[in-house]
Amino acid sequence: MAQENFYTEVYPDIIEQWRFYLDLLELEEGDKVLDIGCNRGDTELFMVNSNPQIAKVVGIDIDELKLSDASKKVSTELEREKIEFQKMDACNLEFEDESFDKVICAETIEWIEEPQRVIQEVKRVLKPQGIAIIQHSDFDTQVFSTTKLSLTREIINKFTDSGPDGTIGRKLLGWCKRVAFKEIKPVIYSVINDSFKKNYYSYQVAQMMKEWLTSQQLIEEERLNEWLEYLQRIDEKGEFFYSINRNLVICRK
Ligand SMILES: C[S@@+](CC[C@H](N)C(=O)[O-])C[C@H]1O[C@@H](n2cnc3c(N)ncnc32)[C@H](O)[C@@H]1O
Repeated sequence: MAQENFYTEVYPDIIEQWRFYLDLLELEEGDKVLDIGCNRGDTELFMVNSNPQIAKVVGIDIDELKLSDASKKVSTELEREKIEFQKMDACNLEFEDESFDKVICAETIEWIEEPQRVIQEVKRVLKPQGIAIIQHSDFDTQVFSTTKLSLTREIINKFTDSGPDGTIGRKLLGWCKRVAFKEIKPVIYSVINDSFKKNYYSYQVAQMMKEWLTSQQLIEEERLNEWLEYLQRIDEKGEFFYSINRNLVICRK
């Protein structure tokens, strides 16, 4: 959430994060890759432009409008040759068994009714020796430098507890263990910001939290605006700090 357009709007911290994820996927010459919950296609654009050696990346999503936006972004010959988008439900992947070398499912599983079924599907469509990454943030791990600690805690707790499953990140390892991959390894990637600026994740997520908590009538808009102003002031003093943990499980079949 709050990071889907990291490539077209250029979020340097999220580009760094995706570089880390793609290194873990060990993308090789001729790889066929599946991205589950591709949204508006920034992962696909970043993947083929930074790893032109792959044969193909197929991005699937349940939302037709997002896929239509994604298709419009594909512009170069390389992108046209190597990127494909398909409308599909992650719980029922319409692919043969063992059809992908690599699979990634990032920031998507929280939105799916049967998250454990997606992990089974990932294993089914992955080739033997293939690598999959199941990733989600644990929103309870957010840390903002603040002079208003109890308000900050209230905001993080209410945001985490009012989404579909704000602490899903910590459940992924147990679910992946159940699916019996040959090898699984949990990894934490921390996004760290020392600046509260528009094209950084902390800024985007703080705005998103404000919008969500206001729309759910969980915290008054005025208190949230005050909180954003405090963050701005801390940044102006050069003392801003933010971190969040991304939980990843690397699964080898
Ligand atoms: C928060 S976005 C994640 C985008 C991207 N993977 C990232 O890491 O930034 C979640 C995406 O999952 C998609 N989605 C939700 N339920 C789905 C389902 N059952 N099958 C496929 N995609 C789904 C949504 O439409 C949305 O585009």
